[in-house]
Amino acid sequence: MKPIRKAVFPVAGLGTRFLPATKAMPKEMLPVVDRPLIQHVVDEAREAGIEHFIFVTGRNKAVIEDHFDRQFELEHALTERQRCDDLELLARDLPGPGTASFTRQQLPLGLGHAVWCARELVGREPFALLLPDVLVQHNRGCLAQMIDAARDLGDNANIIAVEQMPADRLDMYGVVGIGERRGGLFSVTQMVEKPARDRAPSNLIITGRYILQPDIFDSLAAEKRGAGGEIQLTDAMIELARSEPFYALEFEGRSFDCGSKVGFLAANIAYALDRSDIAPAVRAELKRLLGEG
Ligand code: UTP
Repeated sequence: MKPIRKAVFPVAGLGTRFLPATKAMPKEMLPVVDRPLIQHVVDEAREAGIEHFIFVTGRNKAVIEDHFDRQFELEHALTERQRCDDLELLARDLPGPGTASFTRQQLPLGLGHAVWCARELVGREPFALLLPDVLVQHNRGCLAQMIDAARDLGDNANIIAVEQMPADRLDMYGVVGIGERRGGLFSVTQMVEKPARDRAPSNLIITGRYILQPDIFDSLAAEKRGAGGEIQLTDAMIELARSEPFYALEFEGRSFDCGSKVGFLAANIAYALDRSDIAPAVRAELKRLLGEG
């Protein structure tokens, strides 16, 4: 497959499950420990070798653009206080000049529509798509695992990250049907958005990381409304799968659905327990809360 140089981050949703926190602040800026969700996924993309970061934003999301820019007053204050570590941290997190682009979705018509809004910035090359409300915790990032797996595939392949989910929760997700195995990948035979419990083709759900061919934009251009009246990415992928191969990678690592309150809180605890500077104190605090300390 051709190199994957660009990644799209759709960040224009309303985040209604986190109201009132997301009334004036984007969901994607909620912190997991001390880094916003969007920073975690940008880090994952950078680690996978992505060179161009494309954000599809909306109203109330300007702060995301500010987050990925320099902050002179803060840098000045930190320099005066000789806070070298903090200055280094800020510099390290920043995409290089000219490597981040922002476009507006204008109306939150669904994930498929958000992806379509990136078409001019992506152009005609395969690209990565990362949903910032899904975090995957592993020493090798999920997108890097996908790009490793993509190396031996043909130029028209598409890959989606999948993971197992208990049967009673499958009706909340996109579910894939799988065929033969090819290395760490399965060929995808079917995709269904939010299947009825007895209709799910497997227990593997689509998890928020994709490598897609630019032909997906042609399917999205029809702006067909699907489940919930939204323009669904899964519908466009189903159409594209008629002419191009789709593969599913069951990635290594633990995922957190940070679009839900419980998933978000679990991510905060898991990421805190993975941080040597705070893990002992967090563990002690958790024990106290659970009445074991
Ligand atoms: P979600 O459906 O999880 O996010 O979309 P949401 O709609 O913001 O959240 P709730 O359900 O109201 O709480 C997954 C990702 O796709 C983006 C969201 O910002 C989120 O990062 N998205 C969704 C868009 O960019 N545009 C849309 O129209 C819908």
